[in-house]
Amino acid sequence: MRRLLAAVLGCWLLAPALPCLAQVDSTPDLSLLQGDPQRGRLVFGPCRTCHFTEAEAGHGNGPNLYRIFGKVAGKQPGFDYYSAPLQAAQFVWTPAVMYAWLENPMAATPGTSMMSAGVPDPRRRADLIAYLQQVSVRTATAPATP
Ligand code: HEC
Repeated sequence: MRRLLAAVLGCWLLAPALPCLAQVDSTPDLSLLQGDPQRGRLVFGPCRTCHFTEAEAGHGNGPNLYRIFGKVAGKQPGFDYYSAPLQAAQFVWTPAVMYAWLENPMAATPGTSMMSAGVPDPRRRADLIAYLQQVSVRTATAPATP
């Protein structure tokens, strides 16, 4: 995972976005990410101080995290407090990339404005990712209100 993060962040600094995406897609590490969304909901508790997962809740002290996977880091419209490193970032959030980043966000992106120690424990981190994936899907497939 450390190698993956180094590859993603390294190529974001050194090269245009496309080669970075190719590297992320070829990662074999997704099998590590079979987390439990129910447990992940609790892991997300401290994140909720700053982040919402419901689209309609908008941004908090941190950017909204609804459907965050597939988005380029640091580019959400309406959130005006991205740090310089996130503004310049050219990588896409995938479960594997976020899993690697959350081990220690302040070390992975020096200068980030996100004051969080992340989630060092691998099991809890996998649960958190599963939760973030689930909340996006559930809201997206909810039946339309009459
Ligand atoms: C004290 C407030 C705070 C807490 C707690 C916090 N964050 Fe953040 N988060 C931020 C801020 C501010 C940013 C923007 C960082 C930057 O621009 O450097 C951010 C950025 C992010 C991003 C990137 C979003 C994007 O649009 O690219 C993700 C993903 C994220 N946080 C996940 C988490 C998770 C998961 C947790 C819990 C482990 C967490 N954050 C805890 C404030 C917080």
